[in-house]
Amino acid sequence: MKEISVKYLTTSVEKTVWLGQQLGDQLIDGDIIALIGDLGGGKTWFTKGVAIGLEIDPGYIVSPTFTLVNEYKGRRQLFHIDLYRLKDKAEIIALDLEDYLSGEGVVAIEWADRWPGELPEETIQIELRMIDDHTRELRFSGSHPRAKEIIRALKERVGVSLKEIK
Ligand SMILES: Nc1ncnc2c1ncn2[C@@H]1O[C@H](COP(=O)(O)OP(=O)(O)OP(=O)(O)O)[C@@H](O)[C@H]1O
Ligand SMILES: [Mg+2]
Repeated sequence: MKEISVKYLTTSVEKTVWLGQQLGDQLIDGDIIALIGDLGGGKTWFTKGVAIGLEIDPGYIVSPTFTLVNEYKGRRQLFHIDLYRLKDKAEIIALDLEDYLSGEGVVAIEWADRWPGELPEETIQIELRMIDDHTRELRFSGSHPRAKEIIRALKERVGVSLKEIK
C-alpha cells in the first residue's frame, strides 16, 4: 500500500497542542498514533492536544513512567503509552501492552520505534523533529486506508494556518 504524508512546522507549544487537537477530534476506537523522534520533540505536548480532541482535560496528561501506560476517559478512552523506559519484549508481554491495540480506545504511543516488532498497519506515524528552541517539524504518514483518511482530513482542517512543508 502506498504511503501518504504531510509535514507541518509549529512555532510554539500552543500550535503543537492545536495540531494534536485537530487530529484527536477525528479519532475513534481502534485508532493508533505512533509518536517518534527527538527527546523533547513535543510528543507529550502533542498528546495533550489529542486528549483535548477526545474531550479529556489535558492537565491530566503526564507521561506514564512505571507502568508505561496511562488510561484516560473522555469521548473515547485514551491509552497513553510511553516506551522510553521499555527494557525488552518480555516487558511488553508482562504488562499486556498488546491488549491495548485490540481496539477498545484510542492509543497514543511515545517512542513507538521501541515497540518490538510491527505495530498494526492502520497506525499513523508522527515523527517530531526539533528545528530550534521554539520550532518543531511534525511529519504525519500512513499507508492503511484508515490512516490515510485521517491524514487527508487533517490536511483539510489545518490548511494553510500552519506552514506546510512540501
Ligand atoms: N513548537 C513546540 N512544540 C512543542 N514543544 C515545544 C515547542 N517549542 C518548544 N517546545 C518545548 O519542547 C519540549 C517538548 O516537551 P515534550 O515533553 O512534549 O517532548 P517529548 O517529545 O514528549 O519528550 P520525551 O522524549 O522526553 O518524552 C517542552 O519543553 C516544550 O516547552
Ligand atoms: Mg514525552
